[in-house]
Amino acid sequence: MEHLISLSFLAADFSDLRTDIEKVNNSDGDWFHLDIMDGVFVPNISFGMPVIESINKYCKKPLDVHLMLTEPDKFIDEFHRLGAYVLNVHYEACTHLHRSVQRIKSLGMKAGVTLNPHTPVAVLEEIIGDLDLVMLMSVNPGFSGQKFIENTIDKTGRLKELILRKNAKALIEIDGGVNFETGKRLLDAGADVLVAGNFVFNSSDPVDTINKLKRL
Ligand code: DX5
Ligand code: ZN
Repeated sequence: MEHLISLSFLAADFSDLRTDIEKVNNSDGDWFHLDIMDGVFVPNISFGMPVIESINKYCKKPLDVHLMLTEPDKFIDEFHRLGAYVLNVHYEACTHLHRSVQRIKSLGMKAGVTLNPHTPVAVLEEIIGDLDLVMLMSVNPGFSGQKFIENTIDKTGRLKELILRKNAKALIEIDGGVNFETGKRLLDAGADVLVAGNFVFNSSDPVDTINKLKRL
C-alpha cells in the first residue's frame, strides 16, 4: 500500500488556520490530524469542539482525530457528529478498550488505538483483529516539535509482526518527530501512516515538504 501522510495542526498558525488548511488541501497529504488535549491526560490543552466545527467546513480531506483525554468514552459520539473519519483513543485511557473500539466502529468511524512510548505492543495481542489502525507515539504526547524516540523504529517492526501473525488488517500510524530521515526508516520498518506537524508547518514551503514526505 502507498503510505499516507496525516498533517498535525498543532504546529500550524492558530491565528490563520484557514491558510494552513488550504496548504494541506492543495498538497498530496492524505488526512488532517487533529490533536485534542484535556490538560489532564497530557500536560497541555489544544483546541476543542467549536474550533473543529468551524475548520471542518474547509478541510477537504478526512479527519484523523487523536484524543488525548482522560475519559475519551464520553466524547466518542460527539466526535462522530463532528465528522471524524479515524478516531484514535489511547490504550492508557481506556479501562474497557474493547467496548470503546466497538462503539467507535458501530458509529461508522475507523477505530484507532494509540500507545504511549512506554506501552509495549503486546498489550494489543487480544484486540488487534478488531482495530482499523494502531498509532505509536514516537514522542510523549502533549507537544509539537519534540525529539523522535529512537525505540519507535524497532517497536514498529514488533507491531508489524503482531499484525501479520494475527492476520489482522490494522494500519500502523506513527506520531511525533517525523521528518524525511525518521519517516523513511519508519516506512522501511512497516509504517503505513506518518503524522507530521512541526517538520511541515515550520518549513519554508509546507506544500513541497508534504509532497516530499508522500514520495519517501
Ligand atoms: C503530540 C501530537 C502530535 C504532534 C506531532 O502530542 O500528538 O500529533 O503534533 O508532532 P510533530 O510536531 O513532531 O510532528
Ligand atoms: Zn497526534
